[in-house]
Amino acid sequence: MPVTPPFITFEGPEGAGKSTQLTRLAVRLGKVGVPHVVTREPGGTPLGTRVREVLLDPALSIDPLPEFLLYSASRAQLVANVIRPALARGEMVVCDRYADSSLAYQGFGRGLDGTFLASLTREVTGGLVPDLTVLLDLDPAVGLSRAASRGVPDRLERADLDFHARVRGGFLTLATRDPGRFLVLDATRPVDALADDIWRAVEARL
Ligand SMILES: Nc1ncnc2c1ncn2[C@@H]1O[C@H](COP(=O)(O)OP(=O)(O)OP(=O)(O)O)[C@@H](O)[C@H]1O
Ligand SMILES: [Mg+2]
Repeated sequence: MPVTPPFITFEGPEGAGKSTQLTRLAVRLGKVGVPHVVTREPGGTPLGTRVREVLLDPALSIDPLPEFLLYSASRAQLVANVIRPALARGEMVVCDRYADSSLAYQGFGRGLDGTFLASLTREVTGGLVPDLTVLLDLDPAVGLSRAASRGVPDRLERADLDFHARVRGGFLTLATRDPGRFLVLDATRPVDALADDIWRAVEARL
């Protein structure tokens, strides 16, 4: 039986460096010739891309439950059409945000019931849980100011700092519950040092 390649996710607050580190990892995987697919949430499929536009639109007010359901719609399509097929082909999958973001943002951040979120997420993903989740932990004020240097803030970047502090705490709680899956890193460290730590954790799962 062929071994299923690892499914790796990057999590953390806005501006923590998820996309930066994911790009670094993809370059290293390319150099050593590991077949892999890079994707992101929300997005990664034509439906997900449309849903992403809705979710990030600063002109829209979206209640917590429909917000979670929109993320879930994007996620269901991504798991079925991109992530599972890639793993079945023997390709590793690296995803920028995944289900932990819903638990942190819509659960800890917006106050939706975590048991409900986890149960619907199991249906949406068919129980697909990452083999490794890199949590880039950062003070949300620092992350938001990093993200702000990119330009106009999106809908979530506009939420208040208390919300972002609950999200950060939520991610850390999730990591404490599942220490075997999470690699928690201090996102204020230099990009290269973080990339080295991430590479070691990924190599151990290849
Ligand atoms: N370790 C680091 N130290 C200092 N700055 C960093 C570090 N990592 C990334 N940055 C900078 O912070 C900004 C945000 O990085 P990046 O876009 O990778 O974060 P992100 O977590 O993907 O953000 P978002 O949640 O908005 O997608 C960028 O300008 C990036 O260059
Ligand atoms: Mg990003």
